[in-house]
Amino acid sequence: MPAKVEEFGHFIGGKWVVPPRAKRFETVNPSTREPVGSFVLGTTDDVNAAVAAAAKAFPAWRDTPAPVRGEILLGVARRMKEAKPSLGRTVTREMGKVISEGLGDVQESIDFIEYMAGEGRRLAGETIPSELRSKFCMTVRQPKGVVACITPWNFPTAIPNWKIAAALITGNTIVFKPATATARCGAEVVRLYEDAGLPPGVLNFVTGSGSVVGNALVADPRVRTVSFTGGVEAGRDVYVRGAQGLKMVHLELGGKNPVILMDDADLPLALDGVLFGAFGTAGQRCTATSRLILHAKVYDQFLEMLTDRLDQFPVGDPLDPKTGMGPVASADQEKKILEYIEIGKKEAKLRYGGAKLVGGAYDRGFFIEPTIFETKHGTRISKEEIFGPVLSVIRVKEYAEAVKVANDVEFGLSSSIYTRDVNRAFQAIRDLEAGITYINAPTIGAEVQLPFGGIKNTGNGGREAGSVAIEEFTEIKSVFIDFSTKLQKAQIDSETAA
Ligand code: UN1
Repeated sequence: MPAKVEEFGHFIGGKWVVPPRAKRFETVNPSTREPVGSFVLGTTDDVNAAVAAAAKAFPAWRDTPAPVRGEILLGVARRMKEAKPSLGRTVTREMGKVISEGLGDVQESIDFIEYMAGEGRRLAGETIPSELRSKFCMTVRQPKGVVACITPWNFPTAIPNWKIAAALITGNTIVFKPATATARCGAEVVRLYEDAGLPPGVLNFVTGSGSVVGNALVADPRVRTVSFTGGVEAGRDVYVRGAQGLKMVHLELGGKNPVILMDDADLPLALDGVLFGAFGTAGQRCTATSRLILHAKVYDQFLEMLTDRLDQFPVGDPLDPKTGMGPVASADQEKKILEYIEIGKKEAKLRYGGAKLVGGAYDRGFFIEPTIFETKHGTRISKEEIFGPVLSVIRVKEYAEAVKVANDVEFGLSSSIYTRDVNRAFQAIRDLEAGITYINAPTIGAEVQLPFGGIKNTGNGGREAGSVAIEEFTEIKSVFIDFSTKLQKAQIDSETAA
């Protein structure tokens, strides 16, 4: 008899709860289709209870000194370091990324939690001179209140922690809804916050669908800020719904990230970068390298190098440290990516891969070959986000053409150029329309202490990570302190009146 799959409830008001007559769903290991955890399919009543718990916990958490909040975050980070080997395995089992990346996902969480814990001793406002000599002006940061964190499956610990740690340090309380496909990672993250002594109600966790749980969160008038990472269509829908309540909606959406490879590039270096950027996480990163804009002078040589290397790139069990690429994350992902591959076969030249992997252990999971198309710019595969191990290679004759192609997509998250020419590198920093530009490195692998986000349809202007992460979760209050002992009127009184 198969082992019984572990059951989880919601986490509301400091307790793991299973509502009466709850329906359940299971998450699935994309390598084997074995269940990884069983979760409650949340209802609007569950959301209501979670938001009520967060609202109740808010005043005391808001009034807890930020350095004390930081201490709790450091406790979470410490516990997460201890849990890293097992949590990394859970990431790999539930999401399918290879184990080094599963552990990397957890490390990114730890890094960011520690970074935000330090923010508890900063959270700086400004002092600004007054027009009047006996008056003092400053700004202070205050929390928004209850915030909703709605997160995707591709970074099932890191992205939740980007949002949770930033929201907590700034004094907000949270309802966290993880992607249904990676609810176990979400639950295990929440357990670490619970163990670290976060007061009841400060972080609540509700599992279930975007259309029920997500929409109820966005609609709830007590939720002042929604932080969402996911696809463009879902993000647009969240934005429109949030607009009804005049909420702050933070969106991190898609990418179609280019590597420009110039004729003076260090080709072996670029080879490692393109391989990691395009096929790391099976291409399922918002930052994945999905376009290689390749200079004509090195086109044939580099493509040959790339396909030769892919011949030795093992696809298989992501828990095996020798594996280069695991499965894609779900049956839905597999279906969508294979559809795009069929589109690509009609409009472009298939250069490598292009099929579902079958036979033996492959039959149990969702495995797709690393795939390369040679295409003209303008095809669907060269412009739409596929979110899978599919790389479009586009030949260009010169830098100006490369930049034009790079920028002619709806997204602007990450970008990269490989060149040894320092002037070219700085031109690219100036010219590439993206929130992130790498020089001689792939489009993936952003560090947590820098802002993360993009332009155009990648979002709506906000940034996560870095010290600017606190912007998303704070209101700024302007404070005027008059110590003149009489009524002074700005814009009217003269300075000498004081
Ligand atoms: C994402 O895919 O949404 O820069 C996040 C990177 C990672 C984060 C990716 N640090 O690739």
